[in-house]
Amino acid sequence: MTYSRIIGTGSYLPEKVLTNADLERMVDTSDSWIVERTGIRERRIAGEGEYCSHLAIAAARNAMAAANVGPTDIDCLIIGTCTPDQVFPSTACLVQYALGLKPGGVAFDVSAACSGFVYALDVADRFIRTGGARRAMVIGAETMSRVINWTDRGTCILFGDGAGAVILEAGDEPGIYSTHLHADGQYENLLTVPWGVSQGVEAMTPEGGKIVMRGNEVFKVAVRTLGRMVEETLVANGMTHADVDWLVPHQANIRIIQATARKLGLPMERVILTVAEHGNTSSASIPLALDAGIRDGRIKRGQNLLLEAFGGGFTWGSALLRY
Ligand code: UT7
Repeated sequence: MTYSRIIGTGSYLPEKVLTNADLERMVDTSDSWIVERTGIRERRIAGEGEYCSHLAIAAARNAMAAANVGPTDIDCLIIGTCTPDQVFPSTACLVQYALGLKPGGVAFDVSAACSGFVYALDVADRFIRTGGARRAMVIGAETMSRVINWTDRGTCILFGDGAGAVILEAGDEPGIYSTHLHADGQYENLLTVPWGVSQGVEAMTPEGGKIVMRGNEVFKVAVRTLGRMVEETLVANGMTHADVDWLVPHQANIRIIQATARKLGLPMERVILTVAEHGNTSSASIPLALDAGIRDGRIKRGQNLLLEAFGGGFTWGSALLRY
């Protein structure tokens, strides 16, 4: 039996910090409202000319250094993103070339909004388990600031930019125990950027290319769905909450994370939180949190991690793994 195992992680955040105090000067909001309703205090914003691939490349370099592998050791690259540099080539192709990864290896993007990283991890795990790759890099990278309507206080306070990367290697022991992916397109209108290239540039209004969200409705479905999914994930592996050392959740809102931890029966001390400093970085949020927990020494080898995400589509997914 072949499993995939994480051999290194890395992350990158753009330099520019946007605080709640900055947002108070842009829209009718307050630091106390944002902190109380979301847990977010600040987020990072990509600089001019800094694109998704640039964030991904920086995170990937950190992950390769941590894993002690060179670019030609990696034969598969999958990037979860909903804010790619270009329509094509995929961001993964741009990153593959920039890093000098194995030419002729696999490289493609996965689009699943905030669940992009978990979706990409699932696909990479399948490549490894079926012998299609020996070492795979999985990246979540986003420039959400480019799809934010900076006059909409319901959304502009939430999102940030960043990237996180993990390197998986084939091995005889877990590694990843299981992954669980789901989608339900009936909720399209609750969370969307309602423009894409197929509509033509002439159909793009100034608001068209920006996030539109019915936050309160998204919140309720997210809490319900994530609660169900964490249970599904534990049952599939014959485990209970007592077997989980760390919950590494998508960082959309502290209240959603608290509700999921409660459902799992996990104290918040066993949850990796980056929402206060990063905001919601969509696909990048889980690998950013994972890297933070590993680098500060909280997450240790041999511990069990439960990763979970929920996002536009709706899409949702989880992964249970031994680090
Ligand atoms: O990444 C995955 C997908 N995204 C999410 O998971 C996000 C899910 N949703 C949320 O996180 C929350 O719904 C929000 C943080 C977006 C909003 O919190 P809420 O507790 O659901 O607030 P609400 O939308 O019900 O709005 C409550 C009030 C409204 O005022 P009225 O109508 O009661 O007078 C809003 O207009 O808060 C007002 N409001 C704000 N006030 C100050 C909305 N945004 C702001 C703001 N500052 N930024």
